[in-house]
Amino acid sequence: MAAAASSSSAASAPRSGEEIREAFLRFFAERGHQRMPSASLIPEDPTVLLTIAGMLPFKPVFLGQQERPAPRATSSQKCIRTNDIENVGRTARHHTFFEMLGNFSFGDYFKQQAIEWAWELSTEVFGIDPSNLVVSVFREDDEAEQIWRDVVGVNPKRIIRMDEADNFWASGPTGPCGPCSEIYYDFKPELGNEGIDLEDEDRFIEFYNLVFMQYNRDAQGSLSPLANRNIDTGMGLERMAQILQKVPNNYETDLIFPLIKAAGDLAGVDYHQLDAKGKTSLKVIGDHSRAVTQLICDGVIASNLGRGYILRRLLRRVVRHGRLLGINRPFLVTMGEAAITLLQGAYPSVVERQEVILAELQREEARFLETLERGEKLLSELLASKPMQISGVQAFELYDTYGFPLELTQEIAEEQGLAVDLDGFEVAMEEQRQRAKAAAVSIDLTLQDAIEQVASDQAATAFKGYEALEHASCVQALVVNGEPASHAVAGDAVQIVLDTTPFYGEGGGQVGDRGVLSGGDVIVTVDAVSRMRDVFVHDGRIERGQLAVGDRVNAQVDRTCRRRAQANHTATHLLQAALKQVVDPGIGQAGSLVDFDRLRFDFHCPQAVSADQLVQIETLINGWIAEAHDLEVQEMAIDQAKAAGAVAMFGEKYADVVRVVDVPGVSMELCGGTHVANTAEIGLFKIVAESGVAAGIRRIEAVAGASVLAYLNERDAVVKQLGDRFKAQPGEIVERVAALQAELKSMGKALLAAQAELAVAKSAALVSKAVAAGSCQLLVERLDGMDGAGLQGAAQSLADQLGDGAAVVLGGLPNPEDLGKVILVAAFGKQVIAAKLQAGKFIGGIAKLCGGGGGGRPNLAQAGGRDGAALDGALAQAREDLSQTLAAISG
Ligand code: ALA
Repeated sequence: MAAAASSSSAASAPRSGEEIREAFLRFFAERGHQRMPSASLIPEDPTVLLTIAGMLPFKPVFLGQQERPAPRATSSQKCIRTNDIENVGRTARHHTFFEMLGNFSFGDYFKQQAIEWAWELSTEVFGIDPSNLVVSVFREDDEAEQIWRDVVGVNPKRIIRMDEADNFWASGPTGPCGPCSEIYYDFKPELGNEGIDLEDEDRFIEFYNLVFMQYNRDAQGSLSPLANRNIDTGMGLERMAQILQKVPNNYETDLIFPLIKAAGDLAGVDYHQLDAKGKTSLKVIGDHSRAVTQLICDGVIASNLGRGYILRRLLRRVVRHGRLLGINRPFLVTMGEAAITLLQGAYPSVVERQEVILAELQREEARFLETLERGEKLLSELLASKPMQISGVQAFELYDTYGFPLELTQEIAEEQGLAVDLDGFEVAMEEQRQRAKAAAVSIDLTLQDAIEQVASDQAATAFKGYEALEHASCVQALVVNGEPASHAVAGDAVQIVLDTTPFYGEGGGQVGDRGVLSGGDVIVTVDAVSRMRDVFVHDGRIERGQLAVGDRVNAQVDRTCRRRAQANHTATHLLQAALKQVVDPGIGQAGSLVDFDRLRFDFHCPQAVSADQLVQIETLINGWIAEAHDLEVQEMAIDQAKAAGAVAMFGEKYADVVRVVDVPGVSMELCGGTHVANTAEIGLFKIVAESGVAAGIRRIEAVAGASVLAYLNERDAVVKQLGDRFKAQPGEIVERVAALQAELKSMGKALLAAQAELAVAKSAALVSKAVAAGSCQLLVERLDGMDGAGLQGAAQSLADQLGDGAAVVLGGLPNPEDLGKVILVAAFGKQVIAAKLQAGKFIGGIAKLCGGGGGGRPNLAQAGGRDGAALDGALAQAREDLSQTLAAISG
């Protein structure tokens, strides 16, 4: 009999992304690790743009700046890396969004324990054969090498020493760091142990990195030991899924492939039939669709700055690759919906934020399509002058200034029988690169640098927005398409610094204002306002006319947006006051978000706020709203504010003179945000969710004012749809659903009984297929569409009919669409068992051929497997083995 490839424990090895995630977290939870939820993609650490590793939320703990949540922790962290964006879809394993599984020790266990557990997890839980593993250690880390060799027993030839570039890990230029040791999967162990080159991506994939986090690197680059020796690890979930699902790359795993399939359906193409270029486009769409959905879910809005720019860039790449595949209509919403469906199990917040996610996708796609349209128009004007070719400079201008992709310029020019000077394009591109000195820096950072540079020359912006929503202002500086500039024209993406502004700059949890700058014939829409220290940066687009440094403009805040933001901000203060009253006077703020359409408040609290308490909180707040309290806002000395009982945020640094926002008798907080004049302006307040975000930190999400109506309308529509569907009044729906559930349950039972009867009927027809083997009766058949109990019933009934010499083996896929689940059963009669053949042992061996295992009693046994494609071969093997053995024993 052919030997099964996988080790014995592979029978229960996890396979789907979800199973792998759960198996990892469970393994470490069983070893005393506290399970931590994934933190947001937007890190609290202001020095990084996005969460790039599982350790990021714990950086202050490693540095000893924050108390450890527990001595050991484990998490599955959402991460985004964009440094290699051009490689996404071209290699087997580059991603923007990915999930990092990690186990952490904060001054608890160290190197040996981390290594031993990593090995146990990889070989025993994930069932990887040790001959498929290679490990790397830092060049100077003799101790790690010795542990791998002497304690774990890894062949010394499969322990590779690497230098600092590969095996010394740090989260950034400064901060916690240490030597690391990585575990690689070897796809071709038959190539042996000589000359192992871990850079050979066709042969190896790194899937687990163990960082022995014991130093802090300062700005000068010197290392000092941390107070504790810590462990930080990261396992790429997508990589482990590729290995265990035996697919050629990360994209074909169940974590991403459904999105590739959705995009393929939109384009009317089949991924497996495409050439490399087409596959790359589908992979880019699959990867980026997950990333943009998660980014928007965590609160990023497309813009030309920082995270907003990363989101914009990813979205535009999706649209471009869609066009390359022939999708010429808007399709991001469909991709967003597919991504939400895929991600909702592990990340329920994507469903809660569905509306925002889809609206942002639609808005950005429409904008980009407009850009494309403008480029197409310019290009057709160019073509109308009947040139000999499109010069490199022209193609580059279209690409650089109007964001019009080169492939499209080529495509359209070709339709007119014209070529594009690609060499000239490259030259122009290179000149641009030189100008921007950004060959190695991604564009978003260049833009950030440009803004930083411009802002650093400017005096602090005078903020007039507490008193006024409109102000005559003067343009002090401009950044146009990522470069400092003296003027901008229609179509340009701009960042503008004004001398004075009524626009609130994002800060203290409150979003920046939106609005318009106008003057002469220029109109600029402002989408977002951020602050670079004291300088306010208005991010927007020139809709019409020209704008130059020195111009005077009328700066006008969008009143509706502002009204909504300030209603939400005051409501956030009321929420904090109500929490103190209802739950615990000692509750402290851990973070907040005040948006136009919602608010979020995070606070330290060891347990969930109960449903009753939430009702009390809502009632209190709506009472304060109805009481129409006038707000009092004053500036005063910090000591005076604290003496008066104003609530400050722990750990926050305040100036000597602070702004105190007082709802008399209700709440008093230090706050720089904008607020309503009277609580009645809030209108209404409704809590929409209460959840845990990290150990000891709870989150309340709520809506106020007009958003309450939108929220209620949405709920009302659901109730109405349910009412229509169940033909019930709203008050009757719950009862109707309960009745249906009961009905479903009894139908399920009836179905099982019917299946059992059917199995008996089907099996009756099989009796005639039994063949004689010696004095025994051998029957091996495939029966799909039956569950384990059905198949066992059928085998038993066949064996009964065939008598003491019966050897019956049945195998099938319970769901013929799902090749991942195989069931095998064997039923042997007395005469067969007497000849030392046992059903349990026999079927367990056969199941190994389908990547599984199992067993049972000598007379009746069931086993399972995960490789449906191997089922027919396994049954043939069973037939051959049994007919030989049976002939021999009875002969
Ligand atoms: N923090 C380590 C990494 O990201 C585990 O590779």
